[in-house]
Amino acid sequence: MKGFSLFLAALYMNALLVDGRLAKSGSNKNDRSIHAPYDAFCLVNDDFAKGTLIINTPGTYKLCEDIVFDPIQNIELPIMEMYLPDFKVYDRNAYGLGFFAAIAISASNVEIYLNNHSIEQSEGHALMQRFFAVFELANSPFLKSVGPSQFVGNVEFESASNVGIYGPGIIGRSAHHGVHGNDNKNITIRDITFKDFEVAAVSLNNVDDAFIIGNTIPNNRHDVPIVGSFSAATQVSHYGKALKEMNFGMDIKGVYTSAAEVYERLVATIENVAYDVLFRNKGFINEKKHPEEYFLFHNKNSVVDGPCYAFVIHGKGPAVGGFGFELSDSSKMSSNIQIIDNVIENIKCWTNEVPAVVIEDVVQNDARGAILQLIKSTPEDNFLAINSDGTYKRNPVADMQIMTAYAIQQGLLNDNPNLQTVVNTISPSIVKWASSSNDVLVPQYRCNGDSMHHTVKGMTIIRVEDCEGFKISGNNIKGIENLSGEPFENCSSFHAGASKEDTSTQVGNVRVISVAAVTGYNTDKIASKSIIVSNEIKDVQGKSICGIDLQGKSDSCLIDYNIVDYSFMPEEGMEENFALRLRKFVDNSSDGIKAIEIGAHNEFDKSQIQILNNVLDEERMRRLEHLHRNLNIGNEWKLGGCPFGGR
Ligand SMILES: *[C@@H]1O[C@H](CO)[C@@H](O)[C@H](O)[C@H]1NC(C)=O
Ligand SMILES: *[C@@H]1O[C@H](CO)[C@@H](O)[C@H](O)[C@H]1NC(C)=O
Ligand SMILES: *[C@@H]1O[C@H](CO)[C@@H](O)[C@H](O)[C@H]1NC(C)=O
Ligand SMILES: *[C@@H]1O[C@H](CO)[C@@H](O)[C@H](O)[C@H]1NC(C)=O
Ligand SMILES: *[C@@H]1O[C@H](CO)[C@@H](O)[C@H](O)[C@H]1NC(C)=O
Repeated sequence: MKGFSLFLAALYMNALLVDGRLAKSGSNKNDRSIHAPYDAFCLVNDDFAKGTLIINTPGTYKLCEDIVFDPIQNIELPIMEMYLPDFKVYDRNAYGLGFFAAIAISASNVEIYLNNHSIEQSEGHALMQRFFAVFELANSPFLKSVGPSQFVGNVEFESASNVGIYGPGIIGRSAHHGVHGNDNKNITIRDITFKDFEVAAVSLNNVDDAFIIGNTIPNNRHDVPIVGSFSAATQVSHYGKALKEMNFGMDIKGVYTSAAEVYERLVATIENVAYDVLFRNKGFINEKKHPEEYFLFHNKNSVVDGPCYAFVIHGKGPAVGGFGFELSDSSKMSSNIQIIDNVIENIKCWTNEVPAVVIEDVVQNDARGAILQLIKSTPEDNFLAINSDGTYKRNPVADMQIMTAYAIQQGLLNDNPNLQTVVNTISPSIVKWASSSNDVLVPQYRCNGDSMHHTVKGMTIIRVEDCEGFKISGNNIKGIENLSGEPFENCSSFHAGASKEDTSTQVGNVRVISVAAVTGYNTDKIASKSIIVSNEIKDVQGKSICGIDLQGKSDSCLIDYNIVDYSFMPEEGMEENFALRLRKFVDNSSDGIKAIEIGAHNEFDKSQIQILNNVLDEERMRRLEHLHRNLNIGNEWKLGGCPFGGR
């Protein structure tokens, strides 16, 4: 059956081609693998000893051995400083937060052949450098004035175009992305095995002409030792060092405490984690030897505790808000995205909701943008930096965050690329509370954010949004598992995202293919629909699953020949699983090229189609309302996108 539909789909797609580039779709994958040119420039581990390999001129490269990116600069230093770049070699602005990539490409016409080798971040660097991509397609991971440091600064942001990264070969362990980029053009990523990435195999914002073809994902990373807040600890330690050198100090819980003491305790904490994870305890924090470290940072699910994807394509800027609602103008949206014939398996994720304490309507972030985390969202044993009686509870991270905030408020730290101060929002009242032994705080929590207060969105395996023209076809996706717990119950407000859809139509902890704010191809030559065709989705675990989800103001898309089979019978109370869902603002009323066309050849086994732009039947409406309390709020994304939204 499958072979037959694929054959039909291939015929169908050929009829739909707009640019001829897809001619090989549906053909034997082996025909496509490209062998590295004989004269390509050879890359070896030595090329990475000083840190990121910067490619800023056109050229053809190949890996000549397996690369492990582990740029230790000085083994004598504390572990948070071992990997710090040499700022005589690396730009202080772009590299202020460390080596964000193994290879940073900021030129046009660059081709890289993995040449049947692998390239990955080392375990140690992945522990210490949480924001990372094996390949960054620019000279900086963020556009000017976005992101936690003054990335770019006075240097111009330069993005790559006409880049090809070709397998066979492996892009392995990465604390965030396999390949990441902003504002790119003509990017081909083909025949690669991506594994052990934490956030996404490929993440491109505002890209025109991206071809993600014939890649294989056997698994995302399943041995993550720590949660996101460990990065808050390493980042804030750099402030501690500066404050120690200034002989700073303040009252904490009514007792004068020096910066040296707080800093040294934090360093010891980080080093205990690092030595357990990297040497003594093979991947985990030792609970018996280091109970406090374990309580603060242990990752009980061993997978990333924030948003997670296989492939994500997005409009301009980082994908940290909710799902998109409307197309941006053409300078900001992505176009011609082809995600074809990829095999994606065994993706497990955990959305770790981090309740963010709010003072006078402001979320309390530290100097690097991490949440000042008072509690965990789990019901038991959740007090991190507040006691059950409302008094401050000391811990090495919160102490350092608060001391840094106080020093900033005293005007003792000046904003600079390595120690920025402008991001800090920890208020004087929080500082006062923590410095007193018996002041009581009655916290208000804003929910639906992660440890950096990005909107939590659950799992999305293929996400395309803010995009004109895409083809998602021939992808085979199976073994998707939601490891998230229940939402935090005591929220006073919710993190808002961008979309304006109706709360009553909000479902979805797992989206397998999700497109939002998209339309068809609209070139000068010829207009045609975007397609979601011949994808196979199987074995998905969770409570609220959408196989294919169309969101936001979207139109001009053909959906056909897809197979969705979750491999379980819907149980009582699990009817909110859908094979295909068109949300409320998706335009299914237009005719012709603008129409959303649901073809007759989809095989949606045991699950259903839900089209929300017409009134739902009453029975289903009641179920949705039951699942999503507090429906009286007009903006669904006030309650966040998902998975914890719409409560
Ligand atoms: C790639 O490497 C694997 C394992 O080392 C080997 O079995 C295979 O033949 C190689 N493939 C090519 C095309 O060189
Ligand atoms: C796209 O990039 C690839 C890889 O560098 C190059 O071979 C190709 O010519 C480019 N296509 C266009 C239309 O520029
Ligand atoms: C919920 O929050 C309110 C106000 O912040 C607080 O008074 C109450 O004790 C909290 N309840 C629980 C169960 O945490
Ligand atoms: C799936 O995730 C959501 C939140 O992300 C959670 O509330 C729910 O309990 C999870 N379901 C399962 C079956 O794990
Ligand atoms: C649009 O949605 C309505 C409501 O479910 C449905 O009856 C109709 O067939 C859909 N139109 C198209 C063109 O799919």
